[in-house]
Amino acid sequence: MKNEMRLEILSISENEAFARAVAGAFAAQLNPTLEELADIKMAVSEAVTNAIIHGYECDGKRMVEIHGVIRGSVVAFEVIDQGCGIDDVDQAREPFYTSKPDLERSGMGFTVMETFMDKVEVTSGKDKGTKVFMLKAIKAAKERETSDHE
Ligand SMILES: Nc1ncnc2c1ncn2[C@@H]1O[C@H](COP(=O)(O)OP(=O)(O)OP(=O)(O)O)[C@@H](O)[C@H]1O
Ligand SMILES: [Mg+2]
Repeated sequence: MKNEMRLEILSISENEAFARAVAGAFAAQLNPTLEELADIKMAVSEAVTNAIIHGYECDGKRMVEIHGVIRGSVVAFEVIDQGCGIDDVDQAREPFYTSKPDLERSGMGFTVMETFMDKVEVTSGKDKGTKVFMLKAIKAAKERETSDHE
C-alpha cells in the first residue's frame, strides 16, 4: 500500500484533537490494532502539541504542517513548524527535560513519542523551526504483505 497526506493547521490548541483524529484516520487504513492506533495518535498529538506550545511561543500564531506517508506496512508522520526551534535537541529529548516547568509540563513528550513509535528523528535549530519525523511498522499489515507474496 502507498498513500500520502498533508494537513496544515493554525497553531491553536483547538486544533490538537483535530490533527490527532486525522492522523488516526490515515493510519487506520493499515488496519492497526487498537493499541497501535492509540500509540500513533498519542505520538502525533505530542508532536503537534509541542509545535503549538513551544514552536510559536516566540512569534505568535502560525501554521503547523502534518505530513503522513504509508509505504507498505509502515506509517510515518512529519510534524513541522517554522518557529523558534530547539537549541539543544539531545537535551530536549531527555526524559523529564522541559523548558516550561512552571506550566505543569512534565517533559515527557519526546519520551512518549519514542516509546510508542519505532523511530523518532528531530531536526531543529535556533530560529530554524522544528521537524519531527516518526514512523511505526504495523504488524498485522506486515503479515498481510508477507502472505500476499506467498
Ligand atoms: N516544536 C518545538 N519547538 C520548540 N521547542 C520545542 C518543540 N518541541 C519541543 N521543544 C522543546 O523540547 C522540550 C521537551 O519537549 P517534551 O515534549 O519532551 O516536553 P514538554 O513539552 O516540555 O512537556 P510535556 O510534553 O510532557 O507536556 C520542551 O520543553 C521545549 O523546550
Ligand atoms: Mg511536549
